[in-house]
Amino acid sequence: MLVLDFPDPEQHGRALSEELDSHHATIDVHHFPDGESRLRLPENVPEHVVLCRSLHQPNQKLVELLLAADAAREMGARQITLVAPYLCYMRQDAAFRPGEVVSQRLMGRFLARLADTLITVDPHLHRVSALSEVIPNEHAVALSAAPAMGEFLARHPSEPLLVGPDHESQQWVSTAAEVAGLEYVVAAKTRHGDRTVDISLPEAEYKNRHVVLVDDLASTGRTLAVASTALHDAGAERVDVLVSHPLFFDDAMDTLAQAGVKEVWSSDSVAHPTNAFALAPFLADAIRYCGERP
Ligand code: R5P
Repeated sequence: MLVLDFPDPEQHGRALSEELDSHHATIDVHHFPDGESRLRLPENVPEHVVLCRSLHQPNQKLVELLLAADAAREMGARQITLVAPYLCYMRQDAAFRPGEVVSQRLMGRFLARLADTLITVDPHLHRVSALSEVIPNEHAVALSAAPAMGEFLARHPSEPLLVGPDHESQQWVSTAAEVAGLEYVVAAKTRHGDRTVDISLPEAEYKNRHVVLVDDLASTGRTLAVASTALHDAGAERVDVLVSHPLFFDDAMDTLAQAGVKEVWSSDSVAHPTNAFALAPFLADAIRYCGERP
């Protein structure tokens, strides 16, 4: 098996190959002035190639993945596993207006053709129950960072109240709470636009409490910022944030600080200064579980 990654800030390829005791190489990528990419893989590839890339800011990355996967097959690979700790284009899962492209479905078919196995973490699946419904390949594995979040919180000296900022976060916050042995509640969110949300907190005792907001991803950070403001208004003493995918675009971190968030922790699905725990051990287990083709 050969683990191939790209020259991205994320170091999953090296960490994975160490977990799996396999070979690792980083694909050489040159960007031409016109925006096209030239890729160079190792001269020889084995039958099983693991391509590793987190797919935030995805458009160029997807084209390069396609080039790499096809080239690996041309060079003799019979089995391609794609490890994408953050999986892109999963949020648009329905056409809300006539003509709107359901990118989740199209991307699922594209990735299923590209790789025999796909392994990801906490994909944004709201209206479907299993990743295999979206990615119809041999194996489509959706891991969750929530148990690791729970273990992280269990090592924390205080006993915070966990709060999920919206209905969808129930699955992550409940798992993290169970693993850490903590209480949790889930708020209700109404989204009005990319950067505008309203959050209403459920009845609970927030006064003088340490609260940790738990969610799958933070993009603009507005969801968590509005939740933090509501928690402070309700008397919370301290608010921290724990997420699977730290996208944190533009001014997201400043927005959180202004909303009174003290600390932010994340998995290393996307390289970010807030990374607090590594996904490589879980990703490696999933690769072992899916196995090699006979
Ligand atoms: C939505 O349901 C997700 O779980 C996140 O809450 C959302 O995508 C976060 O986006 P933003 O940080 O832009 O509010």
